[in-house]
Amino acid sequence: MTEKMIEAAANALRNERLTLGDSVFKFEDAFAKMCGTKHAMAVSSGTAALQLALQANGIKTGDRVVTSAMSFVASSNSYVAFGGLPGFADVSESDYNLDPAKLKSAIDGKTKAVMPVHLYGQPARMDEINDIAKKNNLLVIEDACQAHGAMYKGKRAGNLADAGCFSFYPTKNMHVGGDGGMITTNDDKVADLCQRMRHCGRKKGSNYEHDVIGYTYRLNSANAAIGLEQLKMLPEWNEKRRAAAKLYDSKLNGVGDLVLPPQPTKDVAPVFHLYTLRTKKRYELKAFLESKGVGVGLNYEIPIHLQPAYKDMFGYKEGLLPVSEKLCKEVIAIPMFADITTEQIDYVVDCVKEFYR
Ligand SMILES: Cc1ncc(COP(=O)(O)O)c(C=O)c1O
Repeated sequence: MTEKMIEAAANALRNERLTLGDSVFKFEDAFAKMCGTKHAMAVSSGTAALQLALQANGIKTGDRVVTSAMSFVASSNSYVAFGGLPGFADVSESDYNLDPAKLKSAIDGKTKAVMPVHLYGQPARMDEINDIAKKNNLLVIEDACQAHGAMYKGKRAGNLADAGCFSFYPTKNMHVGGDGGMITTNDDKVADLCQRMRHCGRKKGSNYEHDVIGYTYRLNSANAAIGLEQLKMLPEWNEKRRAAAKLYDSKLNGVGDLVLPPQPTKDVAPVFHLYTLRTKKRYELKAFLESKGVGVGLNYEIPIHLQPAYKDMFGYKEGLLPVSEKLCKEVIAIPMFADITTEQIDYVVDCVKEFYR
């Protein structure tokens, strides 16, 4: 948070409507421009973005949405919360994202949508996923909550399917000084419906008439003002994350049993929301790094289908998604943020090497 961002928030508080003020619309315009989409609609969180994107595209209670279980629980909470049915397809070991080869068998008669997650900022194999969806008449909603600015075959995440959804939770590559989210789409009708649904279902231009069932999912103006300033920094911050990832790669390649994260290719430019390693000694490494003052994350320790809430509701058992389950036992995220210094990276690497020694 720079002074400029704090000042922008203060200005919005002094001069604008507190919700749906000018900053919200400016932020939306700038975000749509960054993604290359016709529309962007700011909302109160990434979960709200996913929910509205699905509902505005016609997903209802009893419809199944197939997504990745190797994700944050909100990916599927977004529709299970309104009576949607979860469907999980396994991920591939090459990019930790939905495996198109496994997707087909997860589709049944109730399936109406696919939600690929661009995990850790690594775009999913969208061409193949879109192709399968088209053949099966399914909607595709990108969970781009970790992928602000990521590129796939020359296009931005958020512009690769029917709609894209972003989170601005404070750990993300850019944030809004609190919770927030964004939906991107090229569909005028979906954009219009999302705008009404986030605003309690109000009819356009009316205060007291409500023509759809909606929610209080607006983004506050002060948060949008911060988001607008953060968005200006995003390209630079993403480049810094990429450079940090490259440095980690070069220094950690071949150390112990570590498996490096999926690599950028000519088609895929990830944004390293997280930098994750894989190891069979995850908990030992975590304890060792923490003892050295290095913060780590286990993203994710439990795949969604094995979360207690999902096991209780749907009876999922271990063994359903072997690759996701294996990855969830092995991944560990080490420090990654735009302003990480070479000295900090060296310190983390030295600690990792000491652990393996
Ligand atoms: C992959 C993924 N999906 C959905 C969400 C939900 O976003 P939020 O926390 O803003 O509701 C997040 C972030 O937390 C996420 O990482």
